[in-house]
Amino acid sequence: MRESALKDLYIEELRDIYNAEQQLTKALPKMAKAATSSDLGSGFEHHLEQTKGHVQRLEQIFEGLGEKATGKRCKAMEGLIEEGEEMIKEDELEDDARDAGLIAAAQRVEHYEIAAYGSARTYANLLGDQKAASLLEKTLQEEKETDQKLTELAESINLQAAEEGGRASNGGKESTSHGRKGRSARA
Ligand SMILES: [Fe+2]
Repeated sequence: MRESALKDLYIEELRDIYNAEQQLTKALPKMAKAATSSDLGSGFEHHLEQTKGHVQRLEQIFEGLGEKATGKRCKAMEGLIEEGEEMIKEDELEDDARDAGLIAAAQRVEHYEIAAYGSARTYANLLGDQKAASLLEKTLQEEKETDQKLTELAESINLQAAEEGGRASNGGKESTSHGRKGRSARA
């Protein structure tokens, strides 16, 4: 591939992620609000702060390239966020189940970002832009850590949901009290 073609592809990729991250800064507060588990809610809030940093890193990279920091509508992120929003609107879901669904939606987002940052970092390396490559690598690591934390939360939340389901099917009074009250109790 010609170097100029690779550079074009690299900038396209950066514009896609830049837009994706901006979409995410709007979606994460809603996800944090919708989460019942205080750990999940604060996890989303923490990732919101990280995401603002990811936006800034991208702006730094655009500046280094002498390119205007503009995004290109990322349809993939739109779809992923839409699925997360559907999860929030599901009235029928118990709180734990909604949390589990929110985690699944958030992990899809993280996996998309991991793929995008991995590619962008590789392009930066190939183009000899070490500074950008290391910024992209930092963000990539944070996305991976977030994904890992979400996996851990999913394990604890899904375990709780399974236990409650077990009690419910044993004829016990179903414990919906674990809901929003639980959040403040655990906060
Ligand atoms: Fe990010």
